[in-house]
Amino acid sequence: MNWERLISEQKLDVLINRLVNTNDPEEVRRLYRQWSASYDANLGEHGYVAPQIGVTLFQQLIRDLSISNGDALVHDAGCGTGLVGQLLNGLGFQNIEGSDFSQDMLDLAQQKNCYHNLLQADYTQPIEISTGRYDGVISIGVYTKRFKRRFVREMLRILKPGGYLLFSCRPVYFEEVADTVKNLHVDGELLKSSVHFDDYMIAQKASAYYVAIQKQRDLHD
Ligand SMILES: C[S@@+](CC[C@H](N)C(=O)[O-])C[C@H]1O[C@@H](n2cnc3c(N)ncnc32)[C@H](O)[C@@H]1O
Repeated sequence: MNWERLISEQKLDVLINRLVNTNDPEEVRRLYRQWSASYDANLGEHGYVAPQIGVTLFQQLIRDLSISNGDALVHDAGCGTGLVGQLLNGLGFQNIEGSDFSQDMLDLAQQKNCYHNLLQADYTQPIEISTGRYDGVISIGVYTKRFKRRFVREMLRILKPGGYLLFSCRPVYFEEVADTVKNLHVDGELLKSSVHFDDYMIAQKASAYYVAIQKQRDLHD
């Protein structure tokens, strides 16, 4: 597939459809390598509102922990070029770390000067972040079928007890995510969960679920 042509012609629907359906991590990496330079401009033109909606919801969750934005240690999982980090920074978050699978996207995130630390990580594998590190983890536009349960479990692992995970998922994945969340409740790993349905990308009339889960307080790792 000629990604360069699709990107220059802004065929985002074809691109996203391919991303959703591929099982090949190398293809995902190649695609983001070619897309990284024009990513912010392309998505801006297509009304990609998911970062703004996600960050607004995330801030409410952090407020629930009675920690100030400036004191919270948070992680942006799948930070891409740093759109989420930039918005968090604008709300006073100062301790933001991020990770992503694509070094090309991470290089652009680094230039936004809002992350203390950036790490290359593949969420289909265990990630090199210590257990119980963060007050909150946010992940916008990242969840795919390749992650299965591992992604949510890894994100929960790196949260402090009582910490929050907020992530978006396209409707096509929601059934799988709802099942994962239900099982985590059954296993006693969650204190609570909630779901918000909202816009995702205006030009495509695309919506998404924004899923919030709170890690159990008395977990023994
Ligand atoms: C649509 S972008 C979203 C980026 C950013 N959160 C935003 O809202 O602009 C999806 C990001 O997920 C990353 N990603 C895809 N598969 C991944 C994986 N297996 N592990 C870690 N990151 C992955 C991509 O490299 C890309 O930067």
